[in-house]
Amino acid sequence: MKTTTEKFGATPHQPSLWTRADALKVRADDPTTTQPLVSADFPVLNNDVFIWDTMPLRDLDGNVTSVDGWSVIFTLTADRHPNDPQYLDEDGNYDILRDWNDRHGRAKMYYWFSRTGKNWEFGGRVMAEGVSPTAREWAGTPILLNDRGEVDLYYTAVTPGATIVKVRGRVVTTEHGVSMVGFEKVKPLFEADGNLYQTEAQNAFWGFRDPWPFRDPNDGKLYMLFEGNVAGERGSHKVGEAEIGDVPPGYEDVGNSRFQTACVGIAVARGADGDDWEMLPPLLTAVGVNDQTERPHFVFQDGKYYLFTISHTFTYADGVTGPDGVYGFVADSLFGPYVPLNGSGLVLGNPSSQPFQTYSHYVMPNGLVTSFIDSVPTDETGTQIRVGGTEAPTVGMKIKGLQTFVVAEYDYGYIPPMLDVTLK
Ligand code: FRU
Repeated sequence: MKTTTEKFGATPHQPSLWTRADALKVRADDPTTTQPLVSADFPVLNNDVFIWDTMPLRDLDGNVTSVDGWSVIFTLTADRHPNDPQYLDEDGNYDILRDWNDRHGRAKMYYWFSRTGKNWEFGGRVMAEGVSPTAREWAGTPILLNDRGEVDLYYTAVTPGATIVKVRGRVVTTEHGVSMVGFEKVKPLFEADGNLYQTEAQNAFWGFRDPWPFRDPNDGKLYMLFEGNVAGERGSHKVGEAEIGDVPPGYEDVGNSRFQTACVGIAVARGADGDDWEMLPPLLTAVGVNDQTERPHFVFQDGKYYLFTISHTFTYADGVTGPDGVYGFVADSLFGPYVPLNGSGLVLGNPSSQPFQTYSHYVMPNGLVTSFIDSVPTDETGTQIRVGGTEAPTVGMKIKGLQTFVVAEYDYGYIPPMLDVTLK
């Protein structure tokens, strides 16, 4: 095999490793890296739909951007079915948990707008039915391109397959609200190649999704992060010394951890329009540690690259564990080496008493972290739950060197703009 240097010329790099030793340092319930308890009496944004992954409109530098004073967010969204016989239990009651758990199969991209960065008003679907080539419209990123209101929505077209795509449209404002126009032609960009990134043929449980394009603050070029798994047949990956790291005696056994092969992928655009991309080797791999590093994104701060990604308890490998939440890594240059923030990588996890209270955290450059409410226990034992499908309280976080600290809590779904663009 050619080395990275030969193959990619200007961007030689070795993926950084999130090791099993790093993950052994994860401590659930450390107050500096734990999301405050979400109360079971949370308000629901909209009773007709579930929402989960939230994608604030932003520019290519990562700044959350309002237009003509209107904040805009995109969300993965699915109808709620309180009256559908398919979702009634034996007693005729709505089985909201089953409806919620089925949502991924019918996820669609919707948008919302607000004057205050919260209390979001329903906008509607971004693409008309039939525009997107697949059943599922999965996560991505809406980019405001210019003051004409042009928006490139990068997202994942899933089932069949999983393709990183983009669709261009325009945001239009009036005194009364915001609409999205266009978004009629979806352009496929790339899919997993089986050489760098695992394909469905190599592993039916592969992940390849969640594009996050950005302009590198140093070289000015257009890149994209995404979630992937390391290429290779399922079960063929080696969890060796490098992946294990410096573990104490008695921690050398890796069990079946070869099945966990998450990575943070990166691609570089061949031109500024973002129509033509080349996949590069992953920035970060978690072989033997975790199977999912979802929705990767950056905060560029103090000349450093802060890489954040969400992950789950259930996707950890044998012998390591951690809460659902957002994990982070930091480097001095784009291609690393990356080291785990707070030693372990854990940045903001759910408290162990409410392990599913929130997910899909997105860290914004102002230190605010948005997420959605998944489910919150309503009794002591945690057997009764209330399903969310709505915005969680925003958390304020400080990022300092190699550490992060939870410092504040704000209103539900508070996503204030960092800059405003007046449309021409
Ligand atoms: C995160 C996530 C994304 C994916 C979407 C599917 O919550 O798993 O990785 O795009 O949700 O619903």
